[in-house]
Amino acid sequence: MKITQIVIISIISIITVNTVSAQQKLNPETEKKIDVLMSKMTLEEKVGQMNQYNGFWDVTGPAPVGGSAEEKYENIKKGLVGSMLTVRGVKEVKAVQKIAVEQTRLGIPLIIGFDVIHGYKTISPIPLAEAASWDLKAIEKSAEVAASEAAASGINWTFGPMMDISRDARWGRVMEGAGEDPFLGGKIAAARVKGFQGDNTFKSPSRIAATAKHFAAYGFVEAGLEYNAVEIGNNTLFNQVLPPFKSAVDAGIRSVMNSFNTINGTPATADRYLLRDVLKDKWNFSGFVVSDWASIREMISWGFSKDEKAAAKSAVEAGTDMDMESGIYLPYLIDLVKQGKVKESFVDDAVRRILRVKFELGLFDDPYRFLDEKREKETIGSTANHEAVLDMAKKSIVLLKNEKNLLPLKKSGQKILLLGSLAESKNSPLGSWRIAADNNTAVSVLEGMKAYKGNQLNFVEGPKLTTSEPTFLTEVNYNTTDRKGLEEAKNAAKNADVVVMVLGEHGFSSGEARSRTNIDLPGLQEEFLKEIFKVNPNIVLVLNNGRPLTINWASENIPAIVEAWHLGTQAGNAVSQVLYGDYNPSGKLPMTFPRNVGQIPVYYNHLNTGRPFDKDKNVFWSHYSDVEKTPLYPFGFGLSYTKFEYSDLKINKKLFSKGENIQVTFTLKNTGKYDGKEVAQLYIQDESASVARPVKELKGFQIVELKSGESKKITFNLTEKELGFYDNSGNFIIEEGTFKVMVGGNSESLISDEFGLE
Ligand code: NOJ
Repeated sequence: MKITQIVIISIISIITVNTVSAQQKLNPETEKKIDVLMSKMTLEEKVGQMNQYNGFWDVTGPAPVGGSAEEKYENIKKGLVGSMLTVRGVKEVKAVQKIAVEQTRLGIPLIIGFDVIHGYKTISPIPLAEAASWDLKAIEKSAEVAASEAAASGINWTFGPMMDISRDARWGRVMEGAGEDPFLGGKIAAARVKGFQGDNTFKSPSRIAATAKHFAAYGFVEAGLEYNAVEIGNNTLFNQVLPPFKSAVDAGIRSVMNSFNTINGTPATADRYLLRDVLKDKWNFSGFVVSDWASIREMISWGFSKDEKAAAKSAVEAGTDMDMESGIYLPYLIDLVKQGKVKESFVDDAVRRILRVKFELGLFDDPYRFLDEKREKETIGSTANHEAVLDMAKKSIVLLKNEKNLLPLKKSGQKILLLGSLAESKNSPLGSWRIAADNNTAVSVLEGMKAYKGNQLNFVEGPKLTTSEPTFLTEVNYNTTDRKGLEEAKNAAKNADVVVMVLGEHGFSSGEARSRTNIDLPGLQEEFLKEIFKVNPNIVLVLNNGRPLTINWASENIPAIVEAWHLGTQAGNAVSQVLYGDYNPSGKLPMTFPRNVGQIPVYYNHLNTGRPFDKDKNVFWSHYSDVEKTPLYPFGFGLSYTKFEYSDLKINKKLFSKGENIQVTFTLKNTGKYDGKEVAQLYIQDESASVARPVKELKGFQIVELKSGESKKITFNLTEKELGFYDNSGNFIIEEGTFKVMVGGNSESLISDEFGLE
């Protein structure tokens, strides 16, 4: 039912909502301790706290600064180092911590940072895969497991979670985030912060400080090209990019990392508006901001800072508190302050924030509290941790297609042929960003499937995936010429009842510095798939990838497709349990799969345009001439072995006053043969507003378990938080008008109703 009179007055009545974070209140006792300590510190020692060095083995960026190990040790001794990254293991961390605590004038402990992105040694699915579970409890648990292993290895602080919203699958780093949606991204960001930081008291030595990164808009790099510039308007910045960061700040996150990109011409590292006005002042963030690796120095290459000194000045004044691997604060900030070119208050603010987090982590009470070799041995790789990452891996799998009842596989009497280099890989499933993991420690799909002994299982590799073994620091070179193994695979396929093909990207094909212009199956894999299809069409395609892929031919022709990402240490067990039906998949895509690269950016929460449909049966409407404008697989999409039906959508009233609780109910029924789980999704559309709103926006989701034949009444409550949006000045507002409510199992198949707000 339309409520047009409300639409007419929609712009007149607007409420602005206060958005200051409640979670970042200061503890007066800690502040007093910081006052006392800072009153004893020299300017050199203060700037020293703002200096971070890389460790001695792992490199996660261009060549590290800071000189040899000896030089680094010397500077620690002089109190000129506040933090180190990628030092790991109790023994190694103790060695550097002892110098800071026992040999410096003031004994200020170091804070040890590390990229704990999806697990430490026991590896969870890549973050994008975890997001596909929509399971906040499981995601929190996964971060908790990662935190416990990292903490047991002496680490105090992780450079995660990444919460960059991205609509561009060419950008390799989409694997590290939660996909394209700010609502889902915000919930997942908060769950991860809770998993890493626990209740934010750090009483447990198994919790570590987390970092919201990359602030901000890194996911919008032009053309999906790594380290590129970002041009972005306020509407997208406030409504899409910033909400997950706000959610992390509200959850009490202790640090924020700059992004490499410029935003409308200003490097994020020097973006005073975002860092000081929004993050530190408006949101009340009380932790500290760390630069990204060399991002202060890179402002010179950007053509923003004329030299290192200018870069140091811009970064510190903007609110970048710690220098990661630019090596610029230490040599320049002291003089800049002494010469009156930078106010000492900027340095003091940075140091206070860094010391605050060190105090909160308990490092002053006991700098060795994370350094217990017994705990290190017992925690890392424990059975419980393996169980947790297996659970997470199963929940992350998305069933994209299942025809001819190919899945689940029968457990006996079948001849199964397993194909593809990725099927036997024990390295690729660990994905990118798993620096502490030992190579080749994942359970492969081959190993996982061997555990099911009722069938005859045959494995043939087929054409090699790559020409050399990929690593974290080098490009992945796909095989595009050598067809050796193809004939053997074809012959084997002729005799199989079902062919399971594991294809996709190697784990090191996504992540930092892995942008691609072509997101088809790389190398010879599509040809391999087509050749096998000619001799046996009963194919289950298991995809391994860190980003959406353009798999049009497969999607049209292959009867069963399982999205299995890079699922971590327990990958092969998770995939096999899903293939054999011991686990009924329930994952839903957190990112749209395009039909081709030319559609990018393609995302579900777009604006309508003025000509969305072909209403006049001529060419003048918003479309492409050569391909449908719809995605290949939409956001929120994912099947189950069972079927779900949505009906009976009701809203408790037709017209609401502001502040009233809006209740949306509907019936969800499992109409299929299997028990299963469904991620029920709720979207709204603010039909007319002072700033045009998307055609739909996710505003709620619930995971519902239903036995075969069972149905349940599901309720969602909508409040002003879900109905409002940010105006172009960054104020959160709620406007009167008509709202469409949609519910369903993905962002396209939805049932709907409407209500008015006055
Ligand atoms: C650069 C990456 O952008 C960032 O995410 C990471 O935390 C640092 N390097 C440290 O490895």
